[in-house]
Amino acid sequence: MGSATDVQRAYREAIGEFATGVTIVTAHGPQGPAGLTTNAVTSLSLDPLLLVVCFDNASRTLPVVREASRFAVNVLRAGQEDLAAVFASKQVAASKFEAVTHTVAHGVPVLDDALAWIACDVHELLPGGDHTIGIGAVTHFDHDPAGEPLLYFRGGYASIGDRVRSRPT
Ligand SMILES: Cc1cc2nc3c(=O)[nH]c(=O)nc-3n(C[C@H](O)[C@H](O)[C@H](O)COP(=O)(O)O)c2cc1C
Repeated sequence: MGSATDVQRAYREAIGEFATGVTIVTAHGPQGPAGLTTNAVTSLSLDPLLLVVCFDNASRTLPVVREASRFAVNVLRAGQEDLAAVFASKQVAASKFEAVTHTVAHGVPVLDDALAWIACDVHELLPGGDHTIGIGAVTHFDHDPAGEPLLYFRGGYASIGDRVRSRPT
């Protein structure tokens, strides 16, 4: 794999101004659970309920998602950056899952203590440059309304540090 060009680096810095949450996307395959850290996640549609996850084509979790036809988005809490680092690594899936307990619910691995989790059927996997755009049809979800999220901003982890100031009208 070649090193990032100057324009790719500059683009990463610009898009890094777009603060996001951090999630671990998981799937359950014949070898057990697999997962990766992701921030290219967004809600897509309310009717029907759809969300988007962008997978690097080199992700080893992507073929597990493809085969399982199901995946879960596990939203991380403030303070879970060590877990984000484990799932962003190239450790084998079994050792990633030594860092966190999980249950398989609705056919997908749900991480204990996630701020929120959303289980999906794979609706579509579409080409997107060096990534694959995964569209998930949401089937089950839950969340902790009192918890705080882990954020990703300017290439680093951050916390909200401020409660919601105002809501869009
Ligand atoms: C904060 C953060 C966000 C990331 N977001 C994504 C993402 O949205 N999609 C993706 O494919 N990889 C993303 N990655 C990189 C993957 O986590 C990394 O390539 C991982 O090793 C893939 O694991 P796997 O090969 O076991 O699937 C991100 C990494 C970090 C640290």
